[in-house]
Amino acid sequence: MKGGENLFDVKGLEVVYRKGGAVFRAVKGIDFTLAGGETFGIVGESGSGKSTIAKALLLIEKPASGAILFRGSDVTKFDAAAKRQYRRDVQMVFQDAVGSLNPRMTVRQTLDEIIKVSRSRRYTAEELLDLVGLSKAVLEQYPREMSGGQCQRVSVARALAAGPQVLVADEPVSALDVSVQARLLNLFRDLRRELGLAVLLIAHDLAVVKNVCDRVAVMQHGLFVDVGTAKEVFEHPTSDYTRELLSAVPDVRRALAARRCAVG
Ligand SMILES: Nc1ncnc2c1ncn2[C@@H]1O[C@H](COP(=O)(O)OP(=O)(O)OP(=O)(O)O)[C@@H](O)[C@H]1O
Ligand SMILES: [Mg+2]
Repeated sequence: MKGGENLFDVKGLEVVYRKGGAVFRAVKGIDFTLAGGETFGIVGESGSGKSTIAKALLLIEKPASGAILFRGSDVTKFDAAAKRQYRRDVQMVFQDAVGSLNPRMTVRQTLDEIIKVSRSRRYTAEELLDLVGLSKAVLEQYPREMSGGQCQRVSVARALAAGPQVLVADEPVSALDVSVQARLLNLFRDLRRELGLAVLLIAHDLAVVKNVCDRVAVMQHGLFVDVGTAKEVFEHPTSDYTRELLSAVPDVRRALAARRCAVG
């Protein structure tokens, strides 16, 4: 793939946290690309640095070294106008869907507000709901009146309002039941097909990323220990850690084989 086609080119990204006099390297120099319409998964144990990568992409943490290029431009050097556009192009979806919605606002109020704030007339609230597979019936509901899966769909709808090119989803299904997880992951797949959206999907376990991601990175202690197509990583892991993760999900190989049969 040519560099020019990538939305993100991340090179040697290092992020450190400073506490008192101590310096902690949470991300120790990683490289990856994200092409338009691509789904890239990052999996790894708690504390391995996954969310820190998301925070660096969202300009919440500044890289200590390395570069984050978005369409060829260094995001840390964006001026105010470029940052505003970037914040429309790259949207975040969080793990805690219920908590990330305002409990005092109905779905309609939440979506109307974001449509107003993002100054985007791309979609109406109804159209946003349609994109995420929710009926208009939820418009007058409050977050507490909806299931976790429905709340997460509203969060995704909110993220889509500005017409982004990338969704950074940090453990978007971890808080949900397994059956709801699968349906929400299908939503990401549909959005990619319908809107050409690229997704950076962060997850704890391989099972979550195996069906939806084109490429996968396995992260441990701030480094990518395996990276490749989902097939490469699942069938030919190069690191002991990935093999360990795979053995903890014994059905991955079987599921992959079944999927190949179903698709082929
Ligand atoms: N603001 C912070 N200040 C200091 N250390 C931090 C901060 N945020 C994260 N860390 C540390 O950086 C490391 C990576 O954290 P990060 O949140 O990126 O991990 P993660 O892979 O997302 O974990 P989880 O799966 O639990 O969400 C952890 O050791 C964490 O304790
Ligand atoms: Mg995290």
